[in-house]
Amino acid sequence: MTAKELPIWPFRQTILDTVFKHPITVIIGETGSGKTTQIAQMLDKAYCAREGCIGVTQPRRVAALTVARRVAEEMRCEVGQEVGYRVRFEERTSRRTRIVYLTDGTLLREMLDDPELSAYSVIVLDEAHERSLNTDVLFGVLKSLVKTRQKPLKLILTSATLDSAKFSAYFDGCPVLNIPGRQYEVQIVHSQGNHENDYLAAAVDTALDIHLHQPPGDILVFLTGQAEIDKAVKQLSEAIAELPEDSCPDLLILPLYAAMPLELQARVFAPPPDGCRRLIMATNIAETSITVDGVVYVVDPGMVKQKSYTPATGMESLHVVPISRVQATQRAGRAGRVCNGKCYRLYTAQFFEREMSETTVPEIQRTNMLTAVLYLKSLPLDIDVLAFDYLDSPGSEALEDALRQLLILDALDRDGHITELGRRMAALPLEPSLARSLLAAADHDCLPETLTAAAMLSAETIFLGNRQGELSEQGRAALAELMKEGLGDHILMLRIFQAWERNSFSSKWCKDMGLDVRGMHFAREVRKQLADLGSCKSQARGGLCLAGVDALRRALLVGFANRLARRMPRHNGYKTLNERATLAQLHPATARIAADEDGLMPEFVIYYALFATAKVFLSKVCPMDSEWVEDILPKLRNIDVERLSGGMTTKKAAKRAAVVGDLSEKQVVKNVPVANAR
Ligand code: CDP
Ligand code: MG
Repeated sequence: MTAKELPIWPFRQTILDTVFKHPITVIIGETGSGKTTQIAQMLDKAYCAREGCIGVTQPRRVAALTVARRVAEEMRCEVGQEVGYRVRFEERTSRRTRIVYLTDGTLLREMLDDPELSAYSVIVLDEAHERSLNTDVLFGVLKSLVKTRQKPLKLILTSATLDSAKFSAYFDGCPVLNIPGRQYEVQIVHSQGNHENDYLAAAVDTALDIHLHQPPGDILVFLTGQAEIDKAVKQLSEAIAELPEDSCPDLLILPLYAAMPLELQARVFAPPPDGCRRLIMATNIAETSITVDGVVYVVDPGMVKQKSYTPATGMESLHVVPISRVQATQRAGRAGRVCNGKCYRLYTAQFFEREMSETTVPEIQRTNMLTAVLYLKSLPLDIDVLAFDYLDSPGSEALEDALRQLLILDALDRDGHITELGRRMAALPLEPSLARSLLAAADHDCLPETLTAAAMLSAETIFLGNRQGELSEQGRAALAELMKEGLGDHILMLRIFQAWERNSFSSKWCKDMGLDVRGMHFAREVRKQLADLGSCKSQARGGLCLAGVDALRRALLVGFANRLARRMPRHNGYKTLNERATLAQLHPATARIAADEDGLMPEFVIYYALFATAKVFLSKVCPMDSEWVEDILPKLRNIDVERLSGGMTTKKAAKRAAVVGDLSEKQVVKNVPVANAR
């Protein structure tokens, strides 16, 4: 589809007029209407980028990359010239760049260096309906920046579906533009029974059935994750291979998920070979972030993998849960982009009505607020996180939990003010615990090792599939050798990287060891970038002694002091050392940890995540010596949360938030940054 054929095209003048007139504008339009690719170009053509560039945020890394590439194509330039992108650990922009696609997290981090975002004239918060944590934080921060910045800043929020009244009210009564979609009719077919427990098989059956019996048109199947998609692709390919030859047209199966190499993802934008039907097996990413043209059939199992977090226990869970009705409608809509389509729901109409909630709970209300609070505290805006102007508040329990953790990590002082260490942590592109470990590494003289561990833990995938999977005898032995030390996951990561280095960073070596080549190279690149950052410049060190490993463990202990667990007296169950001690087991996938002669595990461990599936597990674990832990324990005791949160109890905070709302200044309408070019 060319730009002129997109539903947004006829509205370009209205969009420009509204944006010029108002500091904040909400634009709502059906997925695929051209919001992400066109709005920035319209603004650019109207010279909005003269006073600073146009930043468009995406909740997902991949979206930022693919969209930048697409827009560069449309503008006939190279990515990194007039159009570029910036995501964590990767950027392609230059001095000529006028349109930048970046993740919402990257924009937040940029604010730490430049709180006024002076490089930008317009910020588009795209995919606002996704309500990612960082987007929600940006809502509050940018709403205030628009009012205070000397140089005018335009804020645009774009979304597929949105409670526009709520948004407009929150953004001081800003205008809302609706772009009517060119949506064809979608026939909804509910299944007779529910397939909550066997949706994978049902999805594969349904897709095959469509392929065999329905007229041409691509099929889009929603699944919940990479492993599931790989499995479904395999099952479907096998089923098709068993059919008699020439019994059906060709089928091109394309998986689509965030962790996939960009080159492979890009295949969904390429037209299929003649007479060939495409079947896309996608995660939620295809719900709104990425539009695949040509889809006529949607298979919707009605499930999604959702993260949640319990502040009281620090427990995370990643459960497959029913989607909301808004999501179900979105998914069905994907079938009606090119002609009338069909959506096969693998659940009953009753399930839709009664079991699904109307909307999805925003991430900010079901996640660990640690990183977000660290950012808010680092901004020179003197933000009271409990009384901050959230669109939907994360709740005082989650905020107090974050404050407590940040105190333990020395990022805040007892009065809840950011410390110098806290600022340096926020500036690192790492989660707070890894950032803290890295800063502690200097004291323990183990920067090279800590850099490696941090980089390896930041890579999305290191192990290919099942760790012991289809390894050769030799590979298995080599991996076992690396685990011999029995010091858990972090140290294994270090050992793997070191062994790879000794093997001249060979890709073949990775393959032999069952490691993801791309993930390993990514980790190497991340390590290089982290090493180049001012705050962790390192002197190179030669060979590694055991002291190096011990030092790394001590640095990790400082960074993960908020995630310590102690073994039960006589068995190998652990109890977390936080407010509400939680019982948990070491996850079976934990790298080997040596037991003592009684078969008992180390008394103390740090962990990466406490999470619940069928049981409660600690994952990515590193054992700690008891004497080291003695030094840290006082930090965990006697935390005065009231003092930490500025003497605000939950109730007081609620009251104050209400008052602040009443007193908010009248909306200041600034002049348009440029004369309208048209
Ligand atoms: O943001 P919104 O969902 O409104 O639409 P968009 O992402 O701007 O997509 C507009 C059109 O560009 C759709 O037809 C997409 O399929 C197409 N597109 C593409 O072909 N390749 C991309 N990398 C991104 C979008
Ligand atoms: Mg979009």
